[in-house]
Amino acid sequence: MATADESMSTWSDATRTVREDEDAEGEDGGNGGGAEQQQQQQQQQETVRVSPVALITAGSAGVGAATARLLARRGYRVVINFSHNTERARKVVGELQQLSRLPAHEIQNDEHEHGNAYLAIRADLGRREEIGRLVRETVVQMGRLDVVFSNGGWTKFRDMTSIEDNTVEEDWDMCFNINVKSHLWLMQAAKKYLDETEGAFITTASAAGIYPSGSSLAYSVTKAAQIHLVKNLAVMAAPPDPRQQRQPGAAFNPKTKFQEWSDRFSEQAKDAYRQKTKLKRFPTVEDVAEQVLTFAKSRSMTGVNIPLDAGFMV
Ligand SMILES: NC(=O)c1ccc[n+]([C@@H]2O[C@H](COP(=O)([O-])OP(=O)(O)OC[C@H]3O[C@@H](n4cnc5c(N)ncnc54)[C@H](OP(=O)(O)O)[C@@H]3O)[C@@H](O)[C@H]2O)c1
Repeated sequence: MATADESMSTWSDATRTVREDEDAEGEDGGNGGGAEQQQQQQQQQETVRVSPVALITAGSAGVGAATARLLARRGYRVVINFSHNTERARKVVGELQQLSRLPAHEIQNDEHEHGNAYLAIRADLGRREEIGRLVRETVVQMGRLDVVFSNGGWTKFRDMTSIEDNTVEEDWDMCFNINVKSHLWLMQAAKKYLDETEGAFITTASAAGIYPSGSSLAYSVTKAAQIHLVKNLAVMAAPPDPRQQRQPGAAFNPKTKFQEWSDRFSEQAKDAYRQKTKLKRFPTVEDVAEQVLTFAKSRSMTGVNIPLDAGFMV
């Protein structure tokens, strides 16, 4: 695994822009007014062109929205995907505009063909053709694609002690469609754009994919399939050209057991979980977002699954 220093020195052009933005934090950014205006405008246009782009599916709530907020703060342009709730997605886009550290002309610039740094695109992850359209629209609107956070998931709560309750065929079809196939369709649609940027493909798994647990048998089994899918995708995503510096990676993201944001669990259940973890805490959506950013930046991780469980399984 690369050290932090190695990663920082060899990160792609797009991310160098992000790092420069980070380094410039706190500085006034003024240029004394004497600089050539034309050169400045050209520079601004160039910045619009090179800022990296992240597509986050299921991005208007939970893990997806938290990751969108973090990436916006770190200089990424972000497309969030949603399916039903337009108002919620619009609100998240507004938040991203507020959180962004990009210069104002990059956040919204009607003069430039890729002038809007934050967008929401409706697409149902259960439909393959919509996934293809989502990727095409993202690239048309943003001009490039550097990170795909394939975060969509589906479940229906069932009694995990009952085989009868876990043999509803519609559950299995929905779980396979969203938890497995949607990630494959998305990777297929995005691969050529990620190859161009030496980008990263990251998905969200679950503790249920590692050991028998979770909301339903169909969820648990399809999350395990998702983890295996990603290992295989890492093989297919490996660069054929050895001169290519960075592997467009299929990194695999977090195992989480109970998570605070879901508010689906009683205080008693949360406390019982917390007591079983080595770190005596719940993973939060912000923890997951940080892990996604680490994956996005890493030059040496691919095909891995990182349990993010505060030491529950240790
Ligand atoms: N929450 C947990 O405790 C937990 C634990 C472990 C793993 N995970 C995994 O983490 C990932 C995210 O879960 P979450 O709990 O953060 O999600 P969430 O809070 O339930 O967020 C749902 C998001 O998915 C969108 N969405 C729902 N159906 C969609 C569809 N068919 N097509 C496109 N977008 C759709 C929603 O937008 P609209 O409502 O507008 O459609 C919203 O943006 C999932 O893969 C899940 O399996 C979650």
